[in-house]
Amino acid sequence: MKLPFPDDARKEYYSLLDQVFDSNMWSEGAMQRRFEDGFGAFVDSDARAVTNAGAGLLAIFQYLNIAGGEVILPTNTFWATTRAVVLAGGTPVFADIGKDDLCLSPSDIEDRITPLTKAIVVVHIGGHIAFEIDKIVELCASHNIPLVEDCAHAHGATWKNQAAGTFGFAGSYSFYATKSLPTGDGGMVVSRNANFLSWLEKWRNYGKEVIAGTVTYPVKDGFNYRMNEFTAALGIVQLQRFPQILEWKRELATKFDQIFEERVQLPEGSISGFYKYIVWGGANLAEKTGQVFGPGDLNHWIYGSREELPVAEWVAENHQCAPIWYGWENADKSVDELSSILGVSA
Ligand SMILES: Cc1ncc(COP(=O)(O)O)c(C=O)c1O
Repeated sequence: MKLPFPDDARKEYYSLLDQVFDSNMWSEGAMQRRFEDGFGAFVDSDARAVTNAGAGLLAIFQYLNIAGGEVILPTNTFWATTRAVVLAGGTPVFADIGKDDLCLSPSDIEDRITPLTKAIVVVHIGGHIAFEIDKIVELCASHNIPLVEDCAHAHGATWKNQAAGTFGFAGSYSFYATKSLPTGDGGMVVSRNANFLSWLEKWRNYGKEVIAGTVTYPVKDGFNYRMNEFTAALGIVQLQRFPQILEWKRELATKFDQIFEERVQLPEGSISGFYKYIVWGGANLAEKTGQVFGPGDLNHWIYGSREELPVAEWVAENHQCAPIWYGWENADKSVDELSSILGVSA
């Protein structure tokens, strides 16, 4: 599979690169701001670019001052989520998930909340928003605990028309090469908290702020997590293409729905960005793209915890992903043709 990046997108990208060279700003320039504005408008929030989604999570946890405290998160996530907690000085507390959506289960959170809980993380697995997001939001509000959203998979996902990253305190999106909106590497933090965003602008730049020509360092624990202008320019082009990418994925998903009865079924109100198309069983699929997170990815095991999280463990063993990469050459094939390629009868 080759990621499509058609000629018109290349031309657009090259013209933006010319603008970068002409501006003489290879970092901290107009492209970063344009990409942030565009992405913010896309999710109806404010957005700040960073080097990757893991850095975005780290920023959120550092700002929330989780050091010395606990953070509840699902075990079936990329190790980045746990690493960000640990790097920020927190202790991860792993929770189980719902079997229907593969996302953090609100009923499994409550018993894990202690006076030390500093944040709760929901990971919108596979491109859909956690089906029980309303309950998770409510639970966080009732305990006065900030909700953090790992949106690495969730480009284009909405729940009742609300985009991922806008349900809690902040969310972090990934533009890693395999994601639905790739720039090779990159991340975007979304939040409506003005103080946090202002802190983040400095944090990602070694804590630096220039006031009337004078350099100051008001944020002491920052580092370099800036997105350069070349990446931001690619992000602008990818964001322009994204409606088309989503259309491909959704067209394919509608056909897959006619093939796979045993699959993640989206409830009314949920629109998926289809980073992945998740089926149950499916080990004999002729063409498949692995798993979202298999047994070897479960964070509680990687971390060394021996506790049992039975639903997450069952899900890790029993799901597969049918191929739904964007621009997948089979997007315009019929259901029958797709069934035969996948080796499954519709
Ligand atoms: C759920 C999840 N969170 C965080 C990340 C980290 O993203 P990045 O590679 O942009 O740091 C990933 C990346 O695959 C992910 O899948």
